[in-house]
Amino acid sequence: MPKRIKRIGILTGGGDCPGINAVIRSVTKTVIEKYGAKVLGIKDGFLGLIKERWRELSYEDVSSILTLGGTILGTSNRDDPFHWLPDKEHKSEPIDVSDTVIENYKRLKLDALVCIGGDGTLSIANKLHKKGLNIVGVPKTIDNDLCETDYTFGFNTAVNIVMEAIDRIHTTASSHHRVMVVETMGRYAGWLALEAGVAGGGDIILIPEIPFNWDSVCRKVKERNRRGKRFSIVVVAEGTKPPGGELVIKRIIGDKRPENIRLGGIGSVVAEEIENRTGVETRYIVLGHLQRGGSPTAFDRLLATRFGYVAAEMIAEGRFGYMPALRGNKIKPVLISRAVRKIRRVPKNYLLIEAARSIGTSFGDD
Ligand code: F6P
Repeated sequence: MPKRIKRIGILTGGGDCPGINAVIRSVTKTVIEKYGAKVLGIKDGFLGLIKERWRELSYEDVSSILTLGGTILGTSNRDDPFHWLPDKEHKSEPIDVSDTVIENYKRLKLDALVCIGGDGTLSIANKLHKKGLNIVGVPKTIDNDLCETDYTFGFNTAVNIVMEAIDRIHTTASSHHRVMVVETMGRYAGWLALEAGVAGGGDIILIPEIPFNWDSVCRKVKERNRRGKRFSIVVVAEGTKPPGGELVIKRIIGDKRPENIRLGGIGSVVAEEIENRTGVETRYIVLGHLQRGGSPTAFDRLLATRFGYVAAEMIAEGRFGYMPALRGNKIKPVLISRAVRKIRRVPKNYLLIEAARSIGTSFGDD
């Protein structure tokens, strides 16, 4: 029989996204109202547990944050306690301060720690669970690249933001008879470019999972021109490699571990090559952090609320090392270790790809 919970901690790690505050609200209200326990908000992800930065969250603190983007707790995607850089200029070697995190968890007398994050944060959370902490995860990322869950929260909002951007790009592309290249985020997975690209009626969608070639892309642009469609929209995911080339990297923060690599720039490569090869005037836009900003969609608010509630229930049941996951329309507990075992990519036989091909969308591979 699990012991009665008295006090839990909650933190948000990795890149922010819409819906995080909705999860904080759901967990906190449930824990306070249903279980009469206290909630400590840890500031700036794991950094808060390294640097002793936290504050108690009251019921009032989490009222009215459902619609708010970002995270009221702050976040960090560079404070892995197992590879921590005390010097942010990256001049020193990383050190392991995970024992400090464990000591602070104990000092705060936490019964559990809720870690809201993507693969980076949840991998750290899993290691802390193995070191004895009572961890419950909540799957968050606009990349939708976590295993074991159909969707992470934040993704649906990002899809809508990108779709709306494509809609706006359409009018200017058609007025100027141009090719417009839209570069999306998504890291090494193409979920965001694919779903937003299809929803926005993109003509060519380039994702990491489907290697493309220039002839195919340019043939599509020319074919559209011949048919009187004198503009084309190309949606490209940041993790897509150019034919025969390497990932296009914007910068590396610290050492070359995958989590330190910031992608970006494939949009300009694609635009330049299309213009050179077809002679059609081409422009590109990098949507960047716009994709992570603002208020969550109804879908994400509902998913975040369900995830938060189930996370609180998991704590009450003493089910640690797990996270709630969306399977069909049900929320199921899954092991965090299984969710982070690899990056979840778009399957080649994904129905949406087949459907898009059947309505004339090119993936640059024929
Ligand atoms: O993982 C979320 C994400 O937005 C990725 O899509 C993107 O590659 C990365 O974070 C950007 O990271 P940063 O906010 O550090 O620039």
